[in-house]
Amino acid sequence: MCGIIGYVGARPCKELVLTGLEHLEYRGYDSAGLVLADAAGLERARAVGPVAALREAAAGLQGTATVGMGHTRWATHGGVEERNAHPFLSEDGRFAVLMNGIFENYVELRAEVAEHGHELSSDTDTEALVHLLEEAYDGDLAQTVRRLYPRLEGHFAFLAICLDEPDRIVGARLAWPPLVVGRGEGETFLASFTPAFLEETRSIQVVDEGEVVIATAAGVEFRAVDDWSVREHPVEQADESLEVAAKGGYETFMLKEIHEQPTAVADTIAERFHHGELHLDGIGLTDDELREINRVLVVGCGTALHAGLAGRYLIEEWAGVATEADVASEWRYRNGVFDPRTLVLAISQSGETADTLAAMQIAKERGARVVAITNIMGSAIARAADGVLYTRAGLEIGVAATKTFTSQVTLMTLLALHLGAVRGTLSPDEVASIGEELSALPELIQRELDDEAMDRQLDLLADRFAHDRFFLYLGRHLGLPICQEGALKLKEISYIPTDAYAAGEMKHGPIALLGEDTPVVAVATDSHVFEKMASNLEEVRARGAHVIAVATEGNTQIERHAEHVIRIPATRPELQPILAVVPLQILAYKIAGRLGLDVDRPRNLAKTVTVE
Ligand code: G6P
Repeated sequence: MCGIIGYVGARPCKELVLTGLEHLEYRGYDSAGLVLADAAGLERARAVGPVAALREAAAGLQGTATVGMGHTRWATHGGVEERNAHPFLSEDGRFAVLMNGIFENYVELRAEVAEHGHELSSDTDTEALVHLLEEAYDGDLAQTVRRLYPRLEGHFAFLAICLDEPDRIVGARLAWPPLVVGRGEGETFLASFTPAFLEETRSIQVVDEGEVVIATAAGVEFRAVDDWSVREHPVEQADESLEVAAKGGYETFMLKEIHEQPTAVADTIAERFHHGELHLDGIGLTDDELREINRVLVVGCGTALHAGLAGRYLIEEWAGVATEADVASEWRYRNGVFDPRTLVLAISQSGETADTLAAMQIAKERGARVVAITNIMGSAIARAADGVLYTRAGLEIGVAATKTFTSQVTLMTLLALHLGAVRGTLSPDEVASIGEELSALPELIQRELDDEAMDRQLDLLADRFAHDRFFLYLGRHLGLPICQEGALKLKEISYIPTDAYAAGEMKHGPIALLGEDTPVVAVATDSHVFEKMASNLEEVRARGAHVIAVATEGNTQIERHAEHVIRIPATRPELQPILAVVPLQILAYKIAGRLGLDVDRPRNLAKTVTVE
């Protein structure tokens, strides 16, 4: 999603702004822009494509300005064109604005400024604001922002500069788009996300929603929009390190993150299961309250939803609680029926996904208890929940989620065990023995990653199938969400159409898609549905399609039903998903590589989707 960086200080800031934007690139964007302010006026550069293109476009700018701001845009209102890239300038050249978020009443705002005679140069919602600022300005930018704030509907974080007060950047925030201040010596940074300025300072302050922030070289002032009272925010030390953002010898972030899965899963378990005992601190509900729960609803988007779909089986299996998982963007518009005994689990790697946040807010309003599962401390979803369970995967940069998925499934496994233990549906011995097997998973994932035979086999499969037009993924029970995740990985980074289906449903549609050579990926690990999967694979083979099966090592039957078998280490069936997804991630990675695609920045996708 859109990224923001601002700088006010003593140093020429063109390079600082460009570098800040580079640190935000991983979030996904389609164009970028910057504006520099000095006595001579505002200088702007914009470009469609990577920050490298902006760098070229900005090469001719003076570069002596010590106040500036930049933006990476992910198109929402208005196509991917340079004229729609931020920042926007007023016609008199005195004001500049950029924003992350949406003005929902943009039609009305744009109509108003057009009626007042302004020439709109873009199709965006943001541009309306710069014209409104120019009209409403009374010599005090912060006060002008305050007066306009109630007129802006939606969710946003924006920054504004006015040449009449060239020593400052004024920002404001509503709802979840984040805005963070970085405090340096005689200089101040503003950004949507801390990696934008972490190379320069780790001392941060978070702007709250409903606040106007006034940043100068000397410091920063936070004011409440409603009564203009001064707000104090503690200066905290940011702990995300830029080092983790380096690729550490891997050719891509995605590959690095695939290889970090043993650590991510181990860290997510860590002290939560120790010496046969399970502790799930942070859940925010007492054991008595957990015993009262009569339903669980999991909401999330994309990969996070797939982790929820896997968790659903485990909660039903071990805790005996009816569990559903739904797409947050759908669920939020359903008239979902539940009561205070419903536990809502909101899963989100970033903790910022707009639909997931909205769904959990609706659930809270209707009286449900909400627990968040996220990878980002202090994120909007973490703050809005009654309790938070953190995955500990470390910063994930690759747009296609990998280590956060396995960490989310691990955490769902721990949660299902915890519910089973508290509710007495699992005995302490069962909890201890499942917990031991779960704790062994990081080592088994490592074995998969070190398995040269598997790697060679995946290479051969990638060579053979990279140019196919379609992949079907089939699974049953816990294998199904893993197929959904495997299919999502392949389509996200290789752009090959995929479908993931419950194997039993194949006869009701997808079988019509099978041709002589269609690759069909099946998750057929050992479980009570193995025989059923085997029959489905026979149906596939009878149509001449190629079966690539992920199966448990030691299984002697699968060879009869599949042309290619990828063997993964054995563990109990409930834990197989975490191992089964790894070769599917690598297969997708290798196929995208054969096609020469940039897996870290797939087209049109964003790491974090903060718009509906
Ligand atoms: C985007 C990302 C996916 C992610 C999904 C949900 O689509 O590209 O990787 O699974 O958003 O994001 P969240 O941060 O809520 O897990």
